[in-house]
Amino acid sequence: MEENKQKTIAVLTSGGDAPGMNAAVRAVVRTGCENGARVLGIRRGYAGLMENDITELNIRSVSDIIHRGGTKLHSARSKRFCTEEGMAEAIQVCRNNDISGIVVIGGDGSFRGARDLSLRGVNCVGVPGTIDNDIACCDYTIGYDTALNTIMDMVDRIRDTSESHERCSVVEVMGRRAGYLALNAGIAIGATAILLPEIDFDIERDVIDRIRRTQRTGKKHFIIVVAEGVADSMKAQGIEGVSGLSAYIQENLKVESRATVLGHVQRGGSPSVKDRVVGSTMGNYAAHLLLSGVGNRVVAMQKEQIVDYDIFEALKMTKTIDMDMYRAALEIGI
Ligand code: F6P
Repeated sequence: MEENKQKTIAVLTSGGDAPGMNAAVRAVVRTGCENGARVLGIRRGYAGLMENDITELNIRSVSDIIHRGGTKLHSARSKRFCTEEGMAEAIQVCRNNDISGIVVIGGDGSFRGARDLSLRGVNCVGVPGTIDNDIACCDYTIGYDTALNTIMDMVDRIRDTSESHERCSVVEVMGRRAGYLALNAGIAIGATAILLPEIDFDIERDVIDRIRRTQRTGKKHFIIVVAEGVADSMKAQGIEGVSGLSAYIQENLKVESRATVLGHVQRGGSPSVKDRVVGSTMGNYAAHLLLSGVGNRVVAMQKEQIVDYDIFEALKMTKTIDMDMYRAALEIGI
């Protein structure tokens, strides 16, 4: 791989933060420095890029961050960056700082920005960082494993008290458009019912009847896992959020019920081994792509191997829920 030693490359984190982003930032910075490049850290994602909120980083600037949740570079979602004016400002800042390429750590929305910058001559390489695991070209996104473990720990605690009081606990987990967190957490915690945005459901059949069936086998406490992305489908069935579902269960089954929205606790915390390792190796891979003059790529994990895709192709791909896994969850969550 022919690498240009004089390059200036940059790194930013964008969209919802995810545990392991720091490991990826650290890897980009150290790979760049070790290969003779100047490395800049762009704070607050594309918003910081437009505002020239940029600092030069060296090998030691990224010490002691591999084990930290969140992102030391901070993150943001910027509407202005999606406009022509915003894009022009960003390009100008790249020119002023001599930036030849940027590693963009984030989700699909962030990759659309990376594609648009690449089209305008600033090479970008995307690294998938989101707890939702909803990037189509990747089997795995940085942050997913840590978030799943956090959800499992939290729901195990809810389960203790749910069991003591013989209650039903309805737990909402993150995932606006994707049910990977809900499905996998649901299996890991032994949920009686799991509602996902990808799969049509009927509250009577898929929640009430399932609880009734398990009641007949002697079960007295229940966990229902709900992805946040099913709110509209529940509303269409007359149920307002997880508290509405909890009240509905209580009224129809005479089982005392409580609702919990786990919220942003799912996004924080020290990254797991997997997120540190995947973040580090993907960051290293992405920096090498940029250093060899390659842009408009997304780094991905496929069958445990790190590969890369053209961003246009990556954004066209779709990802579906593993129906065998869903069926297994229903069969054993009884
Ligand atoms: O995309 C990651 C994610 O955590 C989603 O699961 C969630 O819907 C969203 O971000 C929450 O975003 P915010 O932190 O802006 O409320």
